[in-house]
Amino acid sequence: MKNILVLHGPNLNLLGTREPEIYGRTALADINGRMEARAKRAGVGIDFFQSNHEGALVDAIQEAQGKYDFIILNAAAYTHYSIALRDAIGGIDVPVIEVHLSNIHKREEFRHHSVIAPVVMGQVAGLGVESYLAALEAALLKMGVAE
Ligand code: DQA
Repeated sequence: MKNILVLHGPNLNLLGTREPEIYGRTALADINGRMEARAKRAGVGIDFFQSNHEGALVDAIQEAQGKYDFIILNAAAYTHYSIALRDAIGGIDVPVIEVHLSNIHKREEFRHHSVIAPVVMGQVAGLGVESYLAALEAALLKMGVAE
């Protein structure tokens, strides 16, 4: 059985009420629920982890090695400056898809740059909840389990 790990970074626990004009009104639990339903239909295992702490996310990435076939990661603000997350991704063989709800490229200048982009397989941004679902669909297709 294939397994996917979904990692959510800082402040994403507040989704639904946090700046809804940018991030929408869907709560994190609902995003996870939709991904879980899709993964289940494909017969794939899926786990979720949210943390506001950089080290906890580094630990989760390191521990994914040998346990997961894909990581879907919204590193949130860490996207823009965490060399520790970038090095953790670079240190494992598990492919990572970078996700953002908002289109980081048309927001403030400091959000345009992703320090993790050079070490991930690809990036999905700007589609709201569908960014996560598109990343999941891509992972399923890459693993050869999407219909
Ligand atoms: C985000 C974009 C980041 O710039 C921001 O810090 C976030 C969320 C997104 O999903 O659009 O917290 O990753």
